[in-house]
Amino acid sequence: MNTNKKYLQFCIIGCGRLGISLAAFLSKQGFIPKAFSSKSPTSAQKAVELIGKGQVYENPLDAVKACNLVFITTPDTRIELVCKTIAKQGGFNSDSVVYHLSGALSSCILVSAKNNGASVGSIHPLQAFAPYEEGEDSPFKGINMSIEGDDKAIKLGKEIVNALKANSFTIPTHAKTVYHAAAVVASNYLVTLEHFALELLKQANLSEENAYEILEPLIMGTLNNIKARGCTNALTGPVARGDDEIVLRHLSDIDKKLPHFSDLYRLLGKHTLDLATQRGEISDDAQQKLANLFKF
Ligand SMILES: NC(=O)c1ccc[n+]([C@@H]2O[C@H](COP(=O)([O-])OP(=O)(O)OC[C@H]3O[C@@H](n4cnc5c(N)ncnc54)[C@H](OP(=O)(O)O)[C@@H]3O)[C@@H](O)[C@H]2O)c1
Repeated sequence: MNTNKKYLQFCIIGCGRLGISLAAFLSKQGFIPKAFSSKSPTSAQKAVELIGKGQVYENPLDAVKACNLVFITTPDTRIELVCKTIAKQGGFNSDSVVYHLSGALSSCILVSAKNNGASVGSIHPLQAFAPYEEGEDSPFKGINMSIEGDDKAIKLGKEIVNALKANSFTIPTHAKTVYHAAAVVASNYLVTLEHFALELLKQANLSEENAYEILEPLIMGTLNNIKARGCTNALTGPVARGDDEIVLRHLSDIDKKLPHFSDLYRLLGKHTLDLATQRGEISDDAQQKLANLFKF
């Protein structure tokens, strides 16, 4: 396969948020958007109109046959079946490179394309995509994108990410699930944690908006400390100081006022104590008292 982008005619199967954005910004970088196919032809038609290039194919098999670079950008639950259906009809060949863009799933779900002789991989942008709008700045610029798959798919994947002006990094195929869990913890669970903090501040008669503004410098400062010093050294507060009396006061208030958060506070406390213990700055006695407080 010639990986010069002017020879890379690509198709998008699944013309939703990410599929259209990817097509738009790859097209601006000289990749050729040749074919669009989606569950509803109207979505594929909209993609062609937005990008101003390419053709609608009602049958994804025909779209794939017209191209050597294939992006399956359907919802995660549909990727494997869509790929299988095309592969069963001999849609892929040794010249095809096939990707999906799911964070949670690996390239293993594209095995049917591989059995047709294709190279397979996954490229995952660590970014939330809104529907594409003409004239918008690239949502890919400067973001980080993971790549895994076979050698050819990884090599081309790096060129694709580079063309999108994003940063690529590779992960082992078997690590895709833990990689995605990391993204969920770092982003989604951070939201849950901040929600917990805001609920506590509401108990101090602060509105949610004011509460966020009050906490924001603390949140940002903590993130900066993690970046500069790593998690273990960034840790401050009563657990890091071995102050079991303050923790006991927190718990008795939370158990009374926000009991549905009690378990979360204890569990986070337990893991925070593990980090503090690694630093080796709290006494055995304080460590034992805190461990008892964090028991369920
Ligand atoms: N959006 C994000 O922020 C984001 C970020 C990182 C990764 N991703 C990944 O990107 C992929 C696409 O996500 P998305 O957010 O772009 O989803 P989306 O906006 O829901 O778009 C998915 C598109 O696929 C079409 N489709 C559904 N079933 C299909 C089928 N059987 N055959 C062909 N087309 C089908 C949909 O239907 P219609 O044809 O009816 O429109 C829709 O246009 C997923 O793997 C997701 O995990 C998304």
